[in-house]
Amino acid sequence: MPVVTSPDELIELDIYVHLRPMLHRDLYLKCEGFNFGGSIKMRAAAAMVAAAERDGLLCPDSILVESSSGNLGVALSVIAASKRFEFTCVTDQHCNRTTVELMRALGTRVIVIDQPDPVDGLLGARKAHVRQLCRSDNRYVWLNQYENPANWQAHYENTAPAIAKRFPDLDVIFVGTGTGGTLMGLARYFREHADAVRIIAVDVRGSVNLGGPADLRHIPGLGSSVVAPGLDLAIVDDTIYVTESDTVRACRSLTASGFLFGGSTGTVVSGAMAWLGTNDHHRRLTSLAIAPDLGERYLGTVYDDQWVAETLGPKAVEAEVWARGPSDSTR
Ligand SMILES: Cc1ncc(COP(=O)(O)O)c(C=O)c1O
Repeated sequence: MPVVTSPDELIELDIYVHLRPMLHRDLYLKCEGFNFGGSIKMRAAAAMVAAAERDGLLCPDSILVESSSGNLGVALSVIAASKRFEFTCVTDQHCNRTTVELMRALGTRVIVIDQPDPVDGLLGARKAHVRQLCRSDNRYVWLNQYENPANWQAHYENTAPAIAKRFPDLDVIFVGTGTGGTLMGLARYFREHADAVRIIAVDVRGSVNLGGPADLRHIPGLGSSVVAPGLDLAIVDDTIYVTESDTVRACRSLTASGFLFGGSTGTVVSGAMAWLGTNDHHRRLTSLAIAPDLGERYLGTVYDDQWVAETLGPKAVEAEVWARGPSDSTR
């Protein structure tokens, strides 16, 4: 076990859960929630701040600013505090209360936007607010996770090689899309280094990232109301949409076995099971899905029966039961 002196030293943890006992398939979850920021966004946060330092964009009085639905905001709060930078996070009303409180506890100034842009929704309004802050005071430095190459490069340089080393015979990887940083980093790496590995992009219905129509979404983390500018779906093998109800059902099934994961892990697992159900009848593929965070930040949503029943309907409260495969008895 590592001994650290700063939180960015605890990012490269390579922890997996084998879901076969629950899902009856060789699907592994890469768990990215075990760090001081509590999510995969620690990778992007550390990489973007390091790139800004390398490029000479930061002075001692710089104020980092970023638009975030939550996880990047917490991750940047951790990194900014450890490096003694001020940080302003522009988030919106869908951000979990705990997440806002976490950022404030770490010394971050949090601005919560509640008026969506008429065309580009809450994300558009958040970005407009960041631009306005940058115009008002030149100490602000916007890392811009949506277009910053350090975001996807963090996954190209670290997440992807770790997976390739651990699973040399991997067939498929399922990745959720927010900014597309994780997806693009993994897809670019595997296209170049192990092209046989299929990369499947997963998104929640209502998000426009994979070409679907915009609709109301309630669970923070995954998806976008504006197509992420860095997304290149030409290097992805397939795409799959998952409803928020299926997301919740999958989360609750994992919890029934003691694994309390965040909302988007349910989305990705549900999408993976649907895709494998269609594409792997003989259950021979070895696959991996990214679990971006853990479940504590979702206790008031995904894991709150009343919230789920009122927001998504009573059926979403029931845990998913995944069918056994013909090969299960022989394993
Ligand atoms: C909770 C959460 N955080 C972060 C991410 C990573 O998003 P991206 O790298 O696309 O910005 C995801 C995507 O699945 C997510 O669900």
